[in-house]
Amino acid sequence: MGNKIVIVGGGSTHTPGIVEVLRNRVEDLDLEEIVLYDNDEERNYLIGEFTKIYYRDNNSSVKVSYTTDIREAFKNANFLYVQIRPGLNNQREIDEKICLKHGVVGQETCGLGGFSFALRVIPEILKIVEVAQEVCPNAWILNYTNPEAIISEAINKKFPNAKCLCICDMPISIEETLAEYLDVPYKDLTFKYFGLNHFGWWTNIYNKQGKDLLPGIREKVESGELKGLIQTNEEIIGDDYWTKTFQNVIKAFKMYPQYFPNCYLQYYYFADEMVESDNIEFTRGSYVLSTREITVFEECKRVIELGTAKDSKLLGGVHGNYIVDITNAIIHDTKERFIVNIKNNGVISNFNKEAVVEVPCYIGVTGAEPVAIGDIPIFHKGMMEMQKAYEKLTVETALTGSYDTAMEAILLNKTIPSYRVGKAVLDDLMEANKEYWPVLK
Ligand code: G6P
Ligand code: MN
Repeated sequence: MGNKIVIVGGGSTHTPGIVEVLRNRVEDLDLEEIVLYDNDEERNYLIGEFTKIYYRDNNSSVKVSYTTDIREAFKNANFLYVQIRPGLNNQREIDEKICLKHGVVGQETCGLGGFSFALRVIPEILKIVEVAQEVCPNAWILNYTNPEAIISEAINKKFPNAKCLCICDMPISIEETLAEYLDVPYKDLTFKYFGLNHFGWWTNIYNKQGKDLLPGIREKVESGELKGLIQTNEEIIGDDYWTKTFQNVIKAFKMYPQYFPNCYLQYYYFADEMVESDNIEFTRGSYVLSTREITVFEECKRVIELGTAKDSKLLGGVHGNYIVDITNAIIHDTKERFIVNIKNNGVISNFNKEAVVEVPCYIGVTGAEPVAIGDIPIFHKGMMEMQKAYEKLTVETALTGSYDTAMEAILLNKTIPSYRVGKAVLDDLMEANKEYWPVLK
C-alpha cells in the first residue's frame, strides 16, 4: 500500500502549490492517495475539483478526493498536512485594523494579531490532533498553521507524544535567498540558527570548506552593498510587502550586527515604524483578500468549467517544496537537515527545557533530531524569554479562558506599551472574535 496524504484546510489558497509539488514526486513518495479535508464545503469543493482535474490531466494514478468528514478523511492516513485558518483572511484583516487603530502591530503572527489568531486556532487544532490520535495514530502531522510559535506550544503541551512536526517556510526562504546571493548551491551550505518561530537568528553560514560566510555578508551590509539580496529573489521583487520586509532585515542586521535576523523580528525591533508605515485602510490581510483569495478560486472555477487544467497558472511556492521535502525525508529516512520547531530539552542549554524552540534538526523516520546549540547571548535569551512567556500564557488563556491570564500574556508582548493600550486592544479583539474565541472571564 502506498502513502495517503490528507491536506487539512484543503480549501486553502496554498493547497494548489502543495498538490503541484506532490504530483511531481508521486514515485519518490510512493503516493497513492490525496484527500482534501475542510469544514468549508465550498472552498474545499473548488480546490478539490481543481486538484482532481489537474491529476487527471497528467494521467496520474493517485486517487484524489475531498470531504468535510474528518474521520473519513483521516482513516489510514500516513501524513496530515495541517494548514487551517478559522475566520479566514477576513478575520485577519479585522484584527489588523483593530490593532492599528490602537497604534500597535496587528500582524497575524506577531503582536496581538498573533494573539487573536492563536485564540481562534488553538481550540480547532487541538480537536484535529485529538481525532488524529484516535483515527490514525501512526500518521505524521506536519503543521504549517500559524501562529506556529504558539500553536506548536499548544500541541506540545496537550499532546507531548504526538508524531507532529511544526514547520515554517520562512527560514528556508531566507536561506535560499542568501545562497543565491552568495552564488553557492543551497545544499553546499550549512546554516546555524536558533530562536522561536518567526523570532530567530542565523549565527553562521558555512560553506563546504568550513568557512563561515556570514562575516562577508556583514561587510557587504556595512559597505551598503547588500541591495543585491533583494534582487535575487523573484517572489520578493514582485511584492511590496516582502521588498520592504527584506529591506528591514538588512537594516536590522546592520543595527544588531551580531547575527542575521529572521524577517519577522522587524515587528519587534521596529514596532512603532511598522505601525506608522502600515495602512489601516489596506492591510496585508486586505491585500491577500483582494489578490489570491480571489484569483485562486476564479481559476478553480475556470478549470472546472473547462474540464482541464492544462493551461492553468496556479503556481506553487517554497511552502510546497518544503513540506514535501520533509515528507520525503521521513519516508526515506534521509536525515536531511531542516529548521523545525521542537521541544528544547537542552538543545539551547541556557533556555527553558520545556519550551518549543526553532532549531536545525536532522529529519528521518523517527522525526527530528536537533543540532545542539549551546548557550546563547544575553540579548537573544532575554528577547526569547519574554516572547516565550507571552506564548505560553497565550496558550494558557486559550485553555482556561482567563481574562487575567490574557492580560499577563499581552503585557509580555514587546509590541504593547502599557496596560491601558493592551486592555483596549484586547476588549476590541474579544468583541470582534466572539464567534471564534473561547469566552474570556
Ligand atoms: C511566510 C511565513 C508564513 C506566512 C506567510 C504569510 O511564508 O513563513 O508563516 O503565513 O509568509 O504570507 P501572506 O501572503 O499570507 O502574508
Ligand atoms: Mn511561518
